[in-house]
Amino acid sequence: MSLMELPSMIPIVKNEFPADVIERAKHYINLLELPGTGAYTRSQGLCFVLEDVARFITARDNLCDPSVRSRDPHAYSLPDNIFLGDGSSCLIRRVLQLLINGPSSGIMIPVPQYPLYSATISLLGGSQIPYYLDESNNWSLDMNELEKAYFDASANDVSVKGLVVINPGNPTGQVLTQTNMENIIQFCKLKDLVLIADEVYQENIYDPVRKPFISFKKVKHLMGTPYQDVKLFSSNSASKGFVGECGRRAGYIEMDGIPDIARQEYIKLCSIELCPNTMGQILVGLMARPPVEGEESFKQYERERDEILNSLSVRANIIISRLRSLEGVTCTKPEGAMYVFPSLTIPARAIQKAEECNIPPDTLYCQELLEQTGICAVPGSGFKQVPGTHHLRMTFLPPKEKMLYILDNLLTQFHRRFMEKYS
Ligand SMILES: Cc1ncc(COP(=O)(O)O)c(C=O)c1O
Repeated sequence: MSLMELPSMIPIVKNEFPADVIERAKHYINLLELPGTGAYTRSQGLCFVLEDVARFITARDNLCDPSVRSRDPHAYSLPDNIFLGDGSSCLIRRVLQLLINGPSSGIMIPVPQYPLYSATISLLGGSQIPYYLDESNNWSLDMNELEKAYFDASANDVSVKGLVVINPGNPTGQVLTQTNMENIIQFCKLKDLVLIADEVYQENIYDPVRKPFISFKKVKHLMGTPYQDVKLFSSNSASKGFVGECGRRAGYIEMDGIPDIARQEYIKLCSIELCPNTMGQILVGLMARPPVEGEESFKQYERERDEILNSLSVRANIIISRLRSLEGVTCTKPEGAMYVFPSLTIPARAIQKAEECNIPPDTLYCQELLEQTGICAVPGSGFKQVPGTHHLRMTFLPPKEKMLYILDNLLTQFHRRFMEKYS
């Protein structure tokens, strides 16, 4: 990316970079056909990046098997159905813009939920239709709960337009099984709902044998012709995974089964904001087409990728074991994403104090935690949760040594003091 920002440096620094990196930079500069990275691009995104993303999705889903292809000509991913954006957030917001036309338009969202959905639905004047994930069953998605939420909304004259599924989940870290996903796709078909699959944590998987990531696109196409017309948007981002470059604002969304008229409207929404930032688009290209075996930078890429993912897995285990040792705390092990969402039993006197301060009890816990230790955790109430339950969300992103110090000293002692103070 630095070479693309200053191509005149390439001849000077070319011995400092692996040969394939120099080649890729030159290749992109050539394809860019622009005076530099400061120019506007197409609203949908640079064609060569869209092509790389399409190839990445096709390879990821491994749907090239001739038996699948002959049954389903759409199994391949096509560049035309992919849109690049300044992170996945703006791409998802535009889907909600397409679907919401006032308070009678309802969107089903998981609870605990990621605030992008609740906030955007509110901003667009639509109706949130919460469905609760099942904490007692590793935050799985229960079809009866979906049916119930849909039924309640319809009984209140809300026309349900879309269903959001976050897989792997934020803040809950669950990974859906293929059977669960098939049921969700059937549900969308039956109720004619647009499925919004938020798959930004697809690379962050901690039990790949038992709980691998499978994309909704793949499951839908494996279900065959009757499900081809299920309308699916699926998003991915350079903010997560092992790339983790969230400040660069880079992501993509793929449409599948979306009628052309809706696709045209989506293009109009993209063109209002002219184009995604050019370097973010390049980053998506690099994410979708990493170095391959035989290229000079491959070994370094492979090493860094594996180190980051393994280290996240180790840190997930550390945080779980420490949290579970605290009085009144239970915590499911994350199967994916980057968070833990422990449940807290908050003493009655703390609940009373929170009421006096007019804040939720888990906010009181997080405020005192921040003030006394500097640890910043997000109260579960910010993600919504089953009434009467209390949670907090923490990430396991800090380096291992720092995390061990924070957990073993600061958090453990704070928790003990908090429980004593209010018991
Ligand atoms: C579930 C989920 N979806 C979407 C996003 C937005 O990511 P970005 O806009 O950085 O791609 C996030 C960010 O944390 C997230 O957790």
